[in-house]
Amino acid sequence: MTEKTLVLIKPDAVERNLIGRILVEYERNDLKVLDMKLMKASIDLAEKHYAEHNGKPFFNRLVTYLTRSPIVALVLEGENAISRVRALNGTTDPETSKDNTIRALYGLSLSENTVHASDSKESAGRERSIWFAKNYS
Ligand code: PPS
Repeated sequence: MTEKTLVLIKPDAVERNLIGRILVEYERNDLKVLDMKLMKASIDLAEKHYAEHNGKPFFNRLVTYLTRSPIVALVLEGENAISRVRALNGTTDPETSKDNTIRALYGLSLSENTVHASDSKESAGRERSIWFAKNYS
């Protein structure tokens, strides 16, 4: 099943010049870049993106972090893209993420974990419409 998913290359990665190394991981796994932009996220966009975490103890830290410097927003397409990108990214905590996942290779901490990817078809649709005006249906 061909799917589209939303990825953010987060501030810690852009700050450390990791954009290219992260894109290589996706592209060599047959994930096609359909759209891509470098931008500084506003507080409003970051709060919308992380709306499901509003009220959690780490919510403000998450929004402050995502808005501190530019990110790269991507739409990737491929076979089972949603679960495959999550697997390539690894688990939330870089310390326990499987070897050679993006977070194990480059992640710094639970919040500064280098990449974000949608976790379901519903969140992929919602998140794509937050970061990109275009309708990809
Ligand atoms: S949860 O609560 O299980 O739904 O959280 P999780 O899916 O693991 O993480 C959701 C995003 O919140 C970030 N996160 C944190 N940031 C700061 N401090 C703490 N303790 C923390 N725990 C989780 C985490 O990086 C996730 O970001 P995304 O961009 O969704 O991967």
